[in-house]
Amino acid sequence: MKIAVAGKGGVGKTTVAGTLARLLGRDGLKILAVDADPSYSLWSALGLSADVAHQIVPLTENETLVKERLKIEGAGSYSGFFKLNPRVDDLAAKFAIPAPDNVSLLVAGTVDIGGSGCMCPSATLLKALMRHLILGTDEAFVMDMDAGVENLGRGTTKGMDALLVVTEPGRRALDILGKIKKLAADIDVGQVFAVGNKVATSEDEEMIRERAETEEIPLLGMVPLDESIKESDRRGVAPLDLNPHSPGMKAIGEIKQRLLERISNPSA
Ligand SMILES: Nc1ncnc2c1ncn2[C@@H]1O[C@H](COP(=O)(O)OP(=O)(O)OP(=O)(O)O)[C@@H](O)[C@H]1O
Ligand SMILES: [Mg+2]
Repeated sequence: MKIAVAGKGGVGKTTVAGTLARLLGRDGLKILAVDADPSYSLWSALGLSADVAHQIVPLTENETLVKERLKIEGAGSYSGFFKLNPRVDDLAAKFAIPAPDNVSLLVAGTVDIGGSGCMCPSATLLKALMRHLILGTDEAFVMDMDAGVENLGRGTTKGMDALLVVTEPGRRALDILGKIKKLAADIDVGQVFAVGNKVATSEDEEMIRERAETEEIPLLGMVPLDESIKESDRRGVAPLDLNPHSPGMKAIGEIKQRLLERISNPSA
């Protein structure tokens, strides 16, 4: 099972991705949680401590690793020759940090891989890693992406089972659904789903439902605006640890269930 979580900035991607990873882990699956956001914060939604987080170096920022794997010769020779097929099959085992509920966290980091054909070594490493995770292993993962749609493209998403687009009831967050629809051919994931978040009123719900229908993106569910999710962020703990039975956590549990059904039976 290979799932990516995307959406506009601040809509709740990390909250959904982290909670989903742990709930899938509780079901007995070994889950690799991949943080592909340069301002990585998935650790917090997974319930890791700030002390652990302070020691994280995203793979793409690990210069020794990038140099070693891409065999870059000489200092600062990024314009020179480097390997295009670096070894990546051991990176999850070597660098993933154990987290609660059968989850481990791999902080991949990111670079502008969607844009102007960046051929830098760290982008090459990340692409190779993503290709390996998607096509080269049967490891289940949930990936927390950076904000927006710029880094969505064949290189990162082809072969994934599902792309969850988290949205809140607001124009700019919902516009991402339209952008994703336009990108669909390039994205090439198994299925694209919308997830409503921070829903407070029936108008909010209606706004999300309507747009998902217009863009023909199936809606997996709605997560209510939840005071204990906010509180968990203020206290620096995972929402699932602060209040596992809050309305928001319950809703993500139901979304997980529907996602599993849709992945196992895409035509349902
Ligand atoms: N359902 C919810 N109810 C209340 N607060 C929420 C809810 N979902 C997320 N939040 C809060 O909204 C803020 C943004 O959430 P989160 O970090 O998950 O979003 P994000 O999309 O990953 O953001 P970024 O684009 O910065 O990575 C956090 O403070 C989080 O606690
Ligand atoms: Mg985030």
